[in-house]
Amino acid sequence: MSRVPPDEYLARAYALSTTTEARTLYNEWSSLYDTDLNSAGYASPRRAVETVLKYLPTSCSQTTSTPRASEPLKILDAGCGTGLVGTYISTSTLSNKSEFTLQLDGLDLSEGMLSVAREKNVYSSLTPTDLNDPIPKPSGTYDVVICVGTLTEGHVGPNVLGEFVRVAAAETGIVVVTVHDKVWVSMGFKAEVERLEKEGRLSVLATEEFGILDGESKGGRMVVLRRA
Ligand SMILES: C[S@@+](CC[C@H](N)C(=O)[O-])C[C@H]1O[C@@H](n2cnc3c(N)ncnc32)[C@H](O)[C@@H]1O
Repeated sequence: MSRVPPDEYLARAYALSTTTEARTLYNEWSSLYDTDLNSAGYASPRRAVETVLKYLPTSCSQTTSTPRASEPLKILDAGCGTGLVGTYISTSTLSNKSEFTLQLDGLDLSEGMLSVAREKNVYSSLTPTDLNDPIPKPSGTYDVVICVGTLTEGHVGPNVLGEFVRVAAAETGIVVVTVHDKVWVSMGFKAEVERLEKEGRLSVLATEEFGILDGESKGGRMVVLRRA
């Protein structure tokens, strides 16, 4: 039997309108997702992890002796999918230090995607979660919240940004999210960042354009926030 063409899954992903449709699509796509996205030259996970390395305060990165050197660096991968972000983190300098411990927690709507992520053995926990609901994690927990390819139509809306900031560690926690440029304004992500900044809940470190695919420099927005 021939397989579903990658373009058909992508077209369905861009046309999603409900959480139920999203869960069904990603459960169906999960076993072929990595093959399809790697063939397409999907660069967002690698670029987002590089952004984390650029902005992570040295007090959190444990690359030097710090007051909290005995604690793990806690990272929340929200909308982790099959774990492409976790795989890049596990091969980055964040994981290559012998003195270094990492707690990487993943959340995603799709059990199918989470099953593939589980096989990669890089996550400390993987929890089925709808990110349009409050995040089931205590406030101030994470040094890094990362969310790649998940903030778009039919997936997750701008209200989650306040939740990402809430679960980030006070003062040092950073939030790195990618947003498709075509929905950055239209879905209200830009307005929500500005609202949270005005309320004094975060500072904006970057909202740069970046390329979602290898060889591109546009199409996405890499948003970096620090919890106030
Ligand atoms: C394009 S994939 C991105 C996955 C991964 N971060 C990556 O970059 O490969 C979008 C992910 O968002 C998840 N998703 C969609 N709607 C969601 C929701 N409401 N809550 C949590 N996850 C959701 C899907 O299950 C899927 O794994």
